[in-house]
Amino acid sequence: MSQSLQIRRTAGALGAEIGGVDLAQALSDETIAAIRAALVEHQVIFFRDQTLTPAQQVAFGRRFGPLNIHPYVSGMAGQPEVMEIIKEPSDRINFGGGWHSDMSFLETPAIGSILYAVELPEWGGDTLFASQAAAYDALSEGLKATLDGLNAVHSASKEYSSQGASAQKRGSMQVAEADGYVGEYVHPIVLTHPESGRKALYVNPAFTLKIEGWKTSESKALLDYLFNHCRYEGFTCRFAWRPGSVAFWDNRSVWHFALNDYPGQRRHMRRVTVDPWSRQAAVPAAAE
Ligand code: SIN
Repeated sequence: MSQSLQIRRTAGALGAEIGGVDLAQALSDETIAAIRAALVEHQVIFFRDQTLTPAQQVAFGRRFGPLNIHPYVSGMAGQPEVMEIIKEPSDRINFGGGWHSDMSFLETPAIGSILYAVELPEWGGDTLFASQAAAYDALSEGLKATLDGLNAVHSASKEYSSQGASAQKRGSMQVAEADGYVGEYVHPIVLTHPESGRKALYVNPAFTLKIEGWKTSESKALLDYLFNHCRYEGFTCRFAWRPGSVAFWDNRSVWHFALNDYPGQRRHMRRVTVDPWSRQAAVPAAAE
């Protein structure tokens, strides 16, 4: 039996809040399909007042695809698919504190990420989201045509090497350094969403090194233009977390940015990251 979802759009470019569903339950295939359709349509969806154990979050995530085990960030003991995203009061930097999408440094990047709020600062700690489909739509036909045939090279080295952005130490999370050759993977700059057919820009300030076949200096000029274009305020929405809130975003068409505006306070989230089905055999649906 399907739970009846209430879906309320929250911003112009992307984002919808969904009520009427308890994500801790074993949901019917119909309900999962409705959540998936809402994700594809709104690109990021939000749920309030959920209570999820790590195992329940894993079970919910697995309904959408196999879960990723992050190659550099340690997962929870006994639950390696669950990444604890923690900023302690003594930490200066946060995780995800710049525009990016998750895992484009892999050969088959993650399709979605499901973030659950455990503990929040008294103020601040919101997350921003930006629609890369809206960013693509806003380009001129001329630039769209130029980008359509281009690929970009992505690598974890940009973020996770000892020179990368994540190299600054935090007390709260174990992040391994990606030194030596960690792989470079090529993805189209314009991604056609496999479910909606909508085109979106797929470049990533955290992991895109260059445009395939271009000199670094040539790439930099165009990528800098795109990185700046893609974060235009009109393409964004902002989510103010409460304990028990869940955000589920589509990495194929959304960037996100965890604001770091709560010095001296603690923020604790748990993330599972959904890989495409092509990565592993499908997990059978649970009966409701
Ligand atoms: C992330 O980049 O996955 C973290 C987002 C957040 O903590 O708001």
